[in-house]
Amino acid sequence: MEKYIDLKNTADYSSLEKAAQIIRSGGLVLFPTETVYGLGANGLDEMAVKKIFKAKGRSSDNPLILHISDFNMLNDIATDISEIEHKLMDAFWPGPFTIILNRKPIVPNSVTASLDTVGIRMPSNEIANKLISYSGVPIAAPSANISGKPSGTNISDIFDELSDKVDCIIDGGNSLVGLESTVVRVIDGIPTILRPGKITPEDIKKVVGKVQIDKHIFSKLEDGEKVLSPGMKYKHYAPNSKCILVYSDNNDLLVNKIIEISSSYKTPLILSTSENVQKYEGNLVIDIGSKYNLDEIAKNIFTDLRKVDKFNPDIVIVEGVKQDGLGLAIMNRLIRACSHNYIEL
Ligand code: TXA
Ligand code: MG
Repeated sequence: MEKYIDLKNTADYSSLEKAAQIIRSGGLVLFPTETVYGLGANGLDEMAVKKIFKAKGRSSDNPLILHISDFNMLNDIATDISEIEHKLMDAFWPGPFTIILNRKPIVPNSVTASLDTVGIRMPSNEIANKLISYSGVPIAAPSANISGKPSGTNISDIFDELSDKVDCIIDGGNSLVGLESTVVRVIDGIPTILRPGKITPEDIKKVVGKVQIDKHIFSKLEDGEKVLSPGMKYKHYAPNSKCILVYSDNNDLLVNKIIEISSSYKTPLILSTSENVQKYEGNLVIDIGSKYNLDEIAKNIFTDLRKVDKFNPDIVIVEGVKQDGLGLAIMNRLIRACSHNYIEL
């Protein structure tokens, strides 16, 4: 059977029936969503879910998100939903928003890492939505990448690392957002951001009047410290080389610092915003996009981080962006890609 389904330039989704059949029978499917690609399996099938952990090399204490296509599916898997949680889902679904809710017993322990809660998202990507509804079950899916690597935002970035491990590959072109969903848990009535994303704190505040950001989205974990979202514990998004992130509101300070750091290495590689590329003349530079267009930076950042390894530099120096709006999510990923090696001037 041909594994690969090309849906890049067509609205004929009939071939998704085949992929849905694979999900129902316990197989693994790589599929597009508006955030990043997912590595999906039947979210109610313990054995199928275990295959996801094996394929990714993911620690079994890191729970998965269940993806649903409509609100009927929600009621099958979650319970005791508060008014504020309903408001958030109504506002941001379908879309790049995951909410942590109390789970029903039908959800396998392997999905939730035995927690009492389950992360749930209704994607807006049409292919994802149809795949879920044709399958008739919630699809458990982490980002499509080997654990620790940048998330996949197009098939060519992840083909080599995952194609042998899945039963079906659905190509839907480049991911629209490029960063994983915003993860929120409502704690004592306050929406708490556990992972920043395209849905910003400001967006959430507009809907329910309040929001807080978990301190762990930027801080390094102390040994043994408890976290609300197990994913925060793990190394993520990192190129093979040593990386350092630098940011300043003052662009001259930023550029000078990066030039200073680069001068003490033999083969530095700089990830620069478009505005500064020329200032690093003589160095190897990857243009991450304009600092005035954070959507563009978000869309390409994981592909840019993946390009780095091809050059095998002795240091990777990454320009940061302002931690505002989508900039919060971009910086959260970059800080982790650089293993908290961060200088702010
Ligand atoms: O955009 C996305 O969210 C993508 C696409 C495929 O939907 N998925 C994704 O999944 O990024 P993953 O597994 O790479 O990240 C899920 C994050 C992890 O940090 C995990 O720890 C957290 O969500 N999470 C999942 N269930 C949770 C729960 N019950 N409580 C707290 N955190 C949870
Ligand atoms: Mg991930």
